[in-house]
Amino acid sequence: MKIAVIGSNMVDLISYINKMPVAGETVEAPNFSIGCGGKGANQAVAAAKYGADVLMMTKVGDDIFADNTIKNFDKLGIDTKYVEKVKGLSSGVAPIFVDESGQNRIIIVKGANKYLLPSDIDRASEELKKCSLIILQLEINLETVYYAINFGKKYNIPVLLNPAPATKDLDIEEACKCEFFVPNETELAILTDMPVNTDDEIKNAAEYLVNKGLKNVIVTMGSRGAMWVTKENCQYLKSFKVNAVDTSGAGDAFIGCFAERETPVPKSIVERLSEAVGGYVPEKTVGADADTITVAGRVLPNGEIQKSGFMNDINVNDGDVVNYLKPEEN
Ligand code: RIB
Repeated sequence: MKIAVIGSNMVDLISYINKMPVAGETVEAPNFSIGCGGKGANQAVAAAKYGADVLMMTKVGDDIFADNTIKNFDKLGIDTKYVEKVKGLSSGVAPIFVDESGQNRIIIVKGANKYLLPSDIDRASEELKKCSLIILQLEINLETVYYAINFGKKYNIPVLLNPAPATKDLDIEEACKCEFFVPNETELAILTDMPVNTDDEIKNAAEYLVNKGLKNVIVTMGSRGAMWVTKENCQYLKSFKVNAVDTSGAGDAFIGCFAERETPVPKSIVERLSEAVGGYVPEKTVGADADTITVAGRVLPNGEIQKSGFMNDINVNDGDVVNYLKPEEN
């Protein structure tokens, strides 16, 4: 069965900085790289790299980036039947600033992503009905997100909503129709107006959403792993440690990995979470040729780490530097 990602694609313009400029200041960034990104595309790529059959529904512009984005999906075996070009528009772009600790700040320009409409879902309905999971984020119009959620509900297809970037405009009643709701801590704070500085606070905020009617709230907590909260349950899943150089897309890697575990035989949520949490932190390493590589991995039942190139236009081969530390107990 296929996984459908209905969402964004971006071209990531990544500057590695030592210092954020203040107003009126110019600073030099030592490094720059460009890659295919966007939360939807990242999640599709991560799921595909873990072996899922993925259908991507998104829009690109008619600029120099568009063909490369489509080529990249094709190369990774992602079904691009519903990746469309929009005339006269730019593709989505994301200037990203990564500081020395690997933390990022991201600006997104949606571009053509804004033109992914409910009518596109109707057009693809026969194909979508055959999917076992629909994955959504908030880099496209909310109207399209709600339409996709209701489509999933109507045809009994579970929906995973990653409310990123978080917006208070999100209608929680619509989100309640989803099977999985996967915010990070910052998004959880924005959506609930509650503090999330400690595990207890995160649990309280997640429970607040559960009490509003959300079924499975899975909070990604960076290097600390993830917390899964339902009406009956609160479980903390530890991540394993890596030397994170750039955390961009870590949540996307997690979601792609979690989603892939849906197929071909759905596993228990906790099993899937444990595996995804293992694959949660991508690590960026600088090789001899100064190329940067982002990798994600997951812990297999035999304890081995299966890794996968994450930055979707770069392939990671065995032998690439990964520097994973031993997985901690998950
Ligand atoms: O989640 C990471 C992604 O957010 C980046 O790839 C960027 O494109 C933004 O959408």
